[in-house]
Amino acid sequence: MNGSKTDSEEGVHGASGSEKDPLIRFRPKCYKGIRLQPETTHMSLKDKHKWDAKYGVSEYITGREPCEWLQHNADLLTGQGRALDIAAGEGRNAVFAAEKGYEVLAIDISETGLDKAHALADQKKTKLETQVVDLDEWKFKKNAFDLVLCFNFLDRRIFHKIKNTLKPGGLIFCETFTVDHLKHSDFKREWVLEHNELLNVFREYHIIRYREMDRDEKAFASMVARKKNDA
Ligand SMILES: C[S@@+](CC[C@H](N)C(=O)[O-])C[C@H]1O[C@@H](n2cnc3c(N)ncnc32)[C@H](O)[C@@H]1O
Repeated sequence: MNGSKTDSEEGVHGASGSEKDPLIRFRPKCYKGIRLQPETTHMSLKDKHKWDAKYGVSEYITGREPCEWLQHNADLLTGQGRALDIAAGEGRNAVFAAEKGYEVLAIDISETGLDKAHALADQKKTKLETQVVDLDEWKFKKNAFDLVLCFNFLDRRIFHKIKNTLKPGGLIFCETFTVDHLKHSDFKREWVLEHNELLNVFREYHIIRYREMDRDEKAFASMVARKKNDA
């Protein structure tokens, strides 16, 4: 599933990187076309460097196949309309949605990851649109997507934006680590979901399928939910 070695060792949104990095010391307003807020520059650049370095190898560190949760619930995917993959990484889930027929936008702070997402789409004879963005400040359009995917990325500050960008009637797939994962890793508490947290965040949605698992030293929650038409 999602829990590649990479995920479990360093967290889905964890920081690393050197404090000696000149980009971090000078805190630019803009880096490679991404506008950066002063208060988010430090963490975002660290994340960018960390993920660019991880993805800068020839193999796909998270694999070429979609997360099991997406694959196992593919019966819910109509393939109609637009899909957004948030923090898409190397694109395994975005490419799967494109193969199902969606017009997919894959966004991530790592250009290296998104380059690999394009290469994967080519291999699978499909297409993606990608954007290198910092989710700390990306402007989510209201009611813009029929499908939203968010795997192995947790930033509670953007939950309301994610909800807003889904069209009424649209589907959201979410999966990431839970508090039970802390016994398997040195993740910070803020990087993991509380029990039932997704159920609470999406309480006005129709929760179609939900599970919490703790297996093979990975503990995570997975949800697929539909935004109600009157939302
Ligand atoms: C664990 S990976 C998950 C990748 C993908 N969702 C998957 O499951 O294969 C987390 C991703 O979050 C991205 N990320 C971290 N901070 C970000 C930010 N501020 N803005 C956009 N993407 C970010 C990283 O570049 C990385 O690709």
